[in-house]
Amino acid sequence: MILFDKERCIFHLQGKGFSYVFQVIRDGYLAHLYWGKKVKEYRESSPLLFVNRGGFAPNPDPSDRTFSLDNIPLEYSAYGNGDFRHPAYQIQLENGSTVTDLRYHSYRIHKGKPKLKYLPATYIEHEHEAETLEIVLVDKVIGLWVTLSYTVFERYNAMTRSVQFHNKGKENLRILRALSSSVDFRDDQFDLLTLYGSHTNERNISRHPLAMEMQVIESRRGASSLQHDPFFALLRKGTNETSGVSYGFSFVYSGNFQAEVEVDQYQTTRASIGINSFDFSWILTPKDIFQTPEVVMVYSDQGIDGMSQTYHHLYRERLCRGLYRDRIRPILFNNWEATYFKFNEKKIEELADEASSLGIELFVLDDGWFGKRDNAKSSLGDWVVDKRKLPHGLNRLAKRIEGKGMAFGLWFEPEMVSPDSQLYRKHPDWCLHVLSRPRTVARNQLVLDLSRQDVCEYLIDAISKVLSSAPIRYVKWDMNRHMTEIGSALLPPERQRETAHRYMLGLYYVLEILTSKYPKILFESCSSGGGRYDPGMLYYMPQVWASDNTDAISRLKIQFGTSIIYPPITMGAHVSSVPNHQVGRITTLETRGYVAMAGNFGYELDLTKLSKEEKEMVKKQVAFYKEIRPLIQFGTFHRILSPFEGNETAWIFVSPDQDEFICFYYQILAVPAPPIRILKLAGLNPDFCYKDMNTGKVFGGDELMNVGMTLPIEKGDFLSHVWRFKKYN
Ligand code: DGJ
Repeated sequence: MILFDKERCIFHLQGKGFSYVFQVIRDGYLAHLYWGKKVKEYRESSPLLFVNRGGFAPNPDPSDRTFSLDNIPLEYSAYGNGDFRHPAYQIQLENGSTVTDLRYHSYRIHKGKPKLKYLPATYIEHEHEAETLEIVLVDKVIGLWVTLSYTVFERYNAMTRSVQFHNKGKENLRILRALSSSVDFRDDQFDLLTLYGSHTNERNISRHPLAMEMQVIESRRGASSLQHDPFFALLRKGTNETSGVSYGFSFVYSGNFQAEVEVDQYQTTRASIGINSFDFSWILTPKDIFQTPEVVMVYSDQGIDGMSQTYHHLYRERLCRGLYRDRIRPILFNNWEATYFKFNEKKIEELADEASSLGIELFVLDDGWFGKRDNAKSSLGDWVVDKRKLPHGLNRLAKRIEGKGMAFGLWFEPEMVSPDSQLYRKHPDWCLHVLSRPRTVARNQLVLDLSRQDVCEYLIDAISKVLSSAPIRYVKWDMNRHMTEIGSALLPPERQRETAHRYMLGLYYVLEILTSKYPKILFESCSSGGGRYDPGMLYYMPQVWASDNTDAISRLKIQFGTSIIYPPITMGAHVSSVPNHQVGRITTLETRGYVAMAGNFGYELDLTKLSKEEKEMVKKQVAFYKEIRPLIQFGTFHRILSPFEGNETAWIFVSPDQDEFICFYYQILAVPAPPIRILKLAGLNPDFCYKDMNTGKVFGGDELMNVGMTLPIEKGDFLSHVWRFKKYN
């Protein structure tokens, strides 16, 4: 519900469990008043905001020393007229000045949530699911109209913010900075939680107290990237998994982003997120509109778990789209680690025979099926089947695989071009580049210039031809390098710094067309694993290859960190061979299975090389996953023991009605003289009794959560256990 107190000009956004309040104060500025636990009414009056800080505080009204923009918590701040903190936006005028001054003009409250043009965003299916507030701010001197949009959901404890810039003036405006959200908190008593990583080591958790300075995470790589997820949370001191307050900010965008947390000299905190202003600018000609992507903001007073629950449900139900949003996902086999580039029709069919006999449902042919791609040095861009490897083409292969009872899926890396390709030889200007500069390759490839319409149309056409040529039911959409020499042959000099964002708009356009044209295809996004695991991509592709690291023990951290925001159904997780190809570790097939089963399950190893016993075990794992799949993919996921804090990891999946659950426990290294260990479960109904499906023993939900279960003492490294319980009447 969104309330407006006309008398005091206070806007009160009431979410499911939170209130977010701001006010139009003197001279038409917007002051942020409150974001926290839901209150029925907000009565505190604005004069409390005005404090005479004395020296160096600029005062627009000399007779009132208490009024200074530098001291007031602001809703969408400017730089240049008194607030010295980092601003939410900045615009350069034709006269070179960057001073702008937005004042309140009007508001509109309406049911529903409008779509963001050309951008991914959370959505609703019925108007009653959300309410939206639009605040119009105007800079009269230049005719700049800015609309701040806020949406609160009926069902989710979350709100979204985004901003639209509309040039209603006569001169060109150059946007230098256009963040999507900025929130001023009145103190700095927070820890900052972020997710950081690298290739094969994605989404580690970082948590530390705020310092009296600017703290920034960002991407300048042209993709949201492995280095930092476009997300951060501010946690009140002492907040843990199940109690305490956290504020989450998750940016629905897949390109360069910045997230800033600034603590000023009076220990107030400004938390902002949006498109990275580094190497960015955008010319807004008269009548033009610029729309920022949206930020999903979550308040939780039930710890980090409470925040994760909101993101999991919202992203699974109202960010992911398409046929597979509510459908169980197939268990897949992927040939990458089994063959890499070295395969032929015979080998693929042998693998497919094995996969099908083990109960696997989808066979994915990875890199190397097109052009003349025997290694990573050529052919990206030439999306034509390689008849040397697959002489009978894709259609026959896909049909034969269907004949074996599996669906067929295919790998693409559409956004790239190899210098050694027909496409590059024909269109050398179709990649991102800067005149007179060398084109830096990475993984021997260049990035196609998706800021160009003709390149986007080419891609749609080339991919469509393949997708229509055979019964392809799944696409793995890979992207394996970041941007360098970011420039476009078609943009004029003054617009070159628009290239990276225009690329994202082009990519979203291509994805929108292809996913709508092929609604029955399951798309999985990948960027050398989880290098573009962000809400923007989830809007088009409801699952992501979480990491190229398939080692079960490394995966504990990767999947645990990923779960801070993203639900397990979105996390591609495969069993691979040992010694593991990325880290060389040897773990049991059982543990590899139990780790991968805590995500979107599959296999990626040479099945023909498995022993008879191993095949039997794989068969059992596949059958077991089929049984527990609804729980894993549509249940509620809770973290219990963190691999970042010790030698153990545990997590639990509880059915939506709390009638059953499955709990996974992993002990990383053997412990000499082990202490007695108790595992306390989470997320159960305290009033239900649950029966252990293995032993038949019955326990109360309250007992399992408070008394806990005694863990078995066993010898050996990399151990795992699973308990399945069902409600017992
Ligand atoms: C990177 C992906 O993450 C891998 O799974 C695989 O598809 C390779 N690319 C293929 O080049």
